[in-house]
Amino acid sequence: MVQLNKDMFKGKNFISLQDYTAEEISHLIDVALELKAENKAGIPHPVLQGKTLAMIFTKSSTRTRVAFEVGIYQLGGIGLFLSSRDIQLGRGEPIEDTARVLSRMVDGIMIRTYSHQEVIELAKYSSVPVINGLSDYLHPTQILADLMTIKEHKGQIQGLKLAYIGDGNNVAHSLLLGGTKMGMQVVIASPEGYQPDPEIVRLAQENAALSGGSAVVTTDPEQAAQEADVLYTDVWASMGQEAESEARKKAFASYQINRETLKIAKPEAIVMHCLPAHREEEITAEVMEGPQSVVFDEAENRLHAHKAIMALIM
Ligand code: CP
Ligand code: NVA
Repeated sequence: MVQLNKDMFKGKNFISLQDYTAEEISHLIDVALELKAENKAGIPHPVLQGKTLAMIFTKSSTRTRVAFEVGIYQLGGIGLFLSSRDIQLGRGEPIEDTARVLSRMVDGIMIRTYSHQEVIELAKYSSVPVINGLSDYLHPTQILADLMTIKEHKGQIQGLKLAYIGDGNNVAHSLLLGGTKMGMQVVIASPEGYQPDPEIVRLAQENAALSGGSAVVTTDPEQAAQEADVLYTDVWASMGQEAESEARKKAFASYQINRETLKIAKPEAIVMHCLPAHREEEITAEVMEGPQSVVFDEAENRLHAHKAIMALIM
């Protein structure tokens, strides 16, 4: 059964990849790959027998919810889906009370919400590990699965160039942090006004100085895609930004991954998208369904990567 080096992880929160070393991220990826192989071979791995994960959602989810819920079950535990529409949090019970109550009953808490500060508050008052299942600022569980997918398809992570074309928010932020921790050259192409938080870029550049990678922000999607090993995009309007959809369609019109983008990148480049996707907006249907797209491997890997997170920290 899978070998877990839990000493480095037990009890740790998973809120940002910035809180993890390259060595720790590598171990998470290796465990995820091993759990995937065991899963495919029908080998059970009940390393969290009898444990419970509470999963708070104030936003919609398909992949994150199913990955954590199926994942904890496959590890021998059980997941509780707690929609803010149903629990008292949605009626105004403070996050610090929710944290302390859940901590008395469960072994880990995953939260998907709007405010990143809310995730931090939850962790502050929780005595069990907290996992950030997406905030407006970061999406670290996604990027762990993405790094695993890159390793599977490319055999390495270090030294590869990843071009992210689109909105410089949560997914771009976590790609900047996680990619540079692992020695990637991360280039973000976003229009003015939609570029990543300068503080994230500063941290990514610090990471890059240690890992041998780089972190660059540009407004030019073609420059970003030059010689890229990985092309990545995400929706132009994230959850909670629906009212800005029309304005964003205009601002992002030239930030699409299409057959022209593929011509600029390396011929063997892979195409990634965290999903859900809006075809003919940030990515064409042709590219998304084309031979270079790994988006469904990437989605599947959420399951294996999230199992690795839970198995190590809970
Ligand atoms: N990529 C992602 O987080 O998907 P869901 O919103 O479906 O969880
Ligand atoms: N940036 C997107 C990611 C969805 C997984 C959002 O926040 O809606």
